[in-house]
Amino acid sequence: MSNPVLAAIADRRSIRGYKAEKVTKEQLDALLKAAVESPSARNSQPWHFSVVQNPAIVAEVNAEAVKNLSRDGDLFYAAPLVIFVSCQAEDRWARLDCGIATQTIALAAHALGLGSVILGLPDAAFTGSKGEYFNRLLKFPEGYSFAVAIAIGVPATTKEAHPVAPGKIDHLI
Ligand SMILES: Cc1cc2nc3c(=O)[nH]c(=O)nc-3n(C[C@H](O)[C@H](O)[C@H](O)COP(=O)(O)O)c2cc1C
Repeated sequence: MSNPVLAAIADRRSIRGYKAEKVTKEQLDALLKAAVESPSARNSQPWHFSVVQNPAIVAEVNAEAVKNLSRDGDLFYAAPLVIFVSCQAEDRWARLDCGIATQTIALAAHALGLGSVILGLPDAAFTGSKGEYFNRLLKFPEGYSFAVAIAIGVPATTKEAHPVAPGKIDHLI
């Protein structure tokens, strides 16, 4: 069966190496349009997208996160674009809604010929002692907290599909 949506789902990979070239404005607009077209419980849209193309801001978040994680390296893989997704902390379904929106961005990026990787580890910058500072730096709205980030750019690496874990599906008859 040949279907562009199913092909995008099947071919998407977490990309952990990017070329230096920037994501174009047209591409970014398309990614954000796709993000806000995502479904959410009661259509509450409990998300906020902080679009960062300034490497100094990403580096500052990275430095705090790796410090709090007692590790080193670049959690963002030098991607030219990072979207930080924050969610309305009090909303029952917000984290799920934000996850769905983030996957929508990942699939849209793939459809545009871009690579992406969803990132949970940057959470460490927002849950540490400087969390409030980073919430403000990233312009999370009042009452919102970090959900996840997604790094996006022109892929410089490829990756095999992940092995599918067995036993994850039951057919009840
Ligand atoms: C919620 C979430 C958090 C993730 N956090 C990270 C991360 O911090 N760093 C990273 O390199 N990959 C991260 N990943 C990517 C996963 O490792 C990846 O999706 C998984 O290994 C399957 O590989 P695939 O995406 O290529 O199919 C995360 C994925 C999800 C969905």
